[in-house]
Amino acid sequence: MAAERTILVTGASGNVGRQVVSQLMAGHTGEVCALTRDPRAAALPGGVDVHQGDLADPAALEAALKGADAVFLMWPFHSADPAPAVMDAIKWHTGRVVFLSSGAVQAGVAPERQAHPVGRSHARVEQLIERSGLVWTHLRPSTFAANTLWWADQIRAGDVVRGAYGAVPMALLHEADIAAVAVRALTEDGHGHAAYALSGPEVLTQAEQVRTIGEVLGRPLRWQELSREEARQRLLADDSFPDSFVDPLLDGYAAMLDAPPPAITSTVEAVTGAPARTYRTWVSGHAADFS
Ligand SMILES: NC(=O)c1ccc[n+]([C@@H]2O[C@H](COP(=O)([O-])OP(=O)(O)OC[C@H]3O[C@@H](n4cnc5c(N)ncnc54)[C@H](OP(=O)(O)O)[C@@H]3O)[C@@H](O)[C@H]2O)c1
Repeated sequence: MAAERTILVTGASGNVGRQVVSQLMAGHTGEVCALTRDPRAAALPGGVDVHQGDLADPAALEAALKGADAVFLMWPFHSADPAPAVMDAIKWHTGRVVFLSSGAVQAGVAPERQAHPVGRSHARVEQLIERSGLVWTHLRPSTFAANTLWWADQIRAGDVVRGAYGAVPMALLHEADIAAVAVRALTEDGHGHAAYALSGPEVLTQAEQVRTIGEVLGRPLRWQELSREEARQRLLADDSFPDSFVDPLLDGYAAMLDAPPPAITSTVEAVTGAPARTYRTWVSGHAADFS
């Protein structure tokens, strides 16, 4: 890896941020800092300089940013309202930001004209970053393989996964691949002013994803289609799933069903030198989470 940059990872306890931290710790010679609201629960590896704080709290963010050369920015909010203050702090302290944006962002479309609410908020953050004067890289990942952990309770309880839009095709992406691209952009030159569309290597419907989990676990798992309203009520009753995300998620699935299948990109391999991992590989690494 290149330059001995001090790097701050936000969202460090999340699917992608945790991988960014561990991959940096494995190969980066500079200092690795992390921001979390709850350091104890985050349980980050020894050697990481962990800062307690909320991304929306400028004082906490400023403290974590001191001495950082680059930031991995994960956006946990449903709106872009906190973004101007967050970007003011980041541009004051650092020169480089790698933003975990979203494949929901439509390239070349103004934030307010984006079709999906996630696309709207992330496009607005992208716009602020681009206007900040920082060296920036946007990561626009397709659907995360980790979303299928939402089915873990059902799979532990039986052989049927119930949900809506089982025919929706997705190019599921392994969080380690998103992180690997992020680490390159954080530690190497040559990724500035780039928006990377990232996808997994294959397209699978939700029903096929369930079948793949079953094949890896050695169990006859199958998908059972629910109506949108049945799925909605089920998600609203799930305490681990944010209510505010239920309708945007189902709207997103409905739109994906009507749209052309997601594009497969070669960006992970182009940036990291290794092909994107398959969903089967992801399931094999997470089998314990379903058992
Ligand atoms: N899921 C998908 O299919 C998909 C696809 C494309 C893009 N994305 C984008 O990826 C991002 C989610 O990434 P992820 O899955 O790695 O995250 P995640 O596993 O959902 O974890 C959420 C992270 O956000 C942090 N967080 C939440 N509220 C915070 C706050 N107020 N201040 C500071 N940190 C806060 C949490 O940290 P602490 O609790 O430790 O503070 C945690 O690390 C979202 O922006 C989403 O739009 C997701």
